[in-house]
Amino acid sequence: MTSFDGNEFEFDFESRIVSTEYDDNQDGSVEPSLRPKTLDEYIGQKTAKENLKIYIDAARRRGEVLDHVLLYGPPGLGKTTLSGIIANEMGANIRVTSGPAIEKAGDLVAILTNLGDKDILFIDEIHRLPKVVEEILYPAMEDYVVDIIIGKGPAARSITIPVSRFTLIGATTRAGQISTPLRDRFGVVLKLELYTTEELATIVKRSARILNIAIDEYGAREIAARSRGTPRIANRLLKRVRDFAEVLGKGAIDREIADFALTKLEIDKLGLDSVDRRMLEVIIRFYGGGPVGLDTIAATIGEEAVTIEDVYEPYLMQIGFLSRTPRGRCCTRLAYEHLGIPFTPNGTTVNQIDIFSTENREKDI
Ligand code: ADE
Repeated sequence: MTSFDGNEFEFDFESRIVSTEYDDNQDGSVEPSLRPKTLDEYIGQKTAKENLKIYIDAARRRGEVLDHVLLYGPPGLGKTTLSGIIANEMGANIRVTSGPAIEKAGDLVAILTNLGDKDILFIDEIHRLPKVVEEILYPAMEDYVVDIIIGKGPAARSITIPVSRFTLIGATTRAGQISTPLRDRFGVVLKLELYTTEELATIVKRSARILNIAIDEYGAREIAARSRGTPRIANRLLKRVRDFAEVLGKGAIDREIADFALTKLEIDKLGLDSVDRRMLEVIIRFYGGGPVGLDTIAATIGEEAVTIEDVYEPYLMQIGFLSRTPRGRCCTRLAYEHLGIPFTPNGTTVNQIDIFSTENREKDI
């Protein structure tokens, strides 16, 4: 935790080991080697996987290009991995880019006109495409053409250029921010869910095999249970636990060394780190457990509202610690119990800090 301006409730979010965002420093060395290459190797996401299998099979039998696919869900669940698998299963080339990387309409025209027949174009964070760029996609997705304007002023004219038949795979953490015309052009829309502990334990065992480290069932479960439903975190924790096992343990991962390592990393039994615990504490101690507005929480802890919504809240809601109500966020009894705070909802907590008291103002809380 960092302290800005003496505010002890502002955090250092960047280097969290339990962050779901891809981090080249933490994930770059192994994540690509751990990614499954086929749907059969891909663990979890049963519904999405079963449906995709059918669509891929059908497109292959007909010798057609796969319909455009929209993948949505919290970060770290395997949207990039899944698009690589789709390309592999279709025997297609894949071109990977992201919404914020395509700044001008011309950039996207260049990408589209360079695609080969049945290629896959993967656009991560597709909700962040600028509007003028997004509009290039509509005729490309629908009719495999792009309309470009040549010249300026009265001499300007529009010409239509054909592009190869391709599949667009769009990925987003924010399905609600995709405009209707874009969303309507995806034939396949798949929601990715947080993984169960059992699924994550299977992923951890598979990754351990690839990384060449022995692990038993209990060790895998200990890591899985603390991975917040997210394979990216599970693989990251596995790497850290491996370090402890090799240096301090017997070179193999069991429950004991996994628990020891994760406790050292300050990740508790449910996978919460100090940032999660402090965020819940802020809601309870400053705002009587809620309801409190998202923007208020964001301002208090110094993080962007969208990040809290996309990255922190899904897991806290999945484990039943937080609820979203029309009037704001509320901590549940389970959250109080986990933090060891007596449950007194919708009012003052026993330990509530009066931030307006002279004593606390002097402390500059
Ligand atoms: N590694 C990351 N995500 C995975 C998944 N869903 N299945 C197998 N290995 C993975």
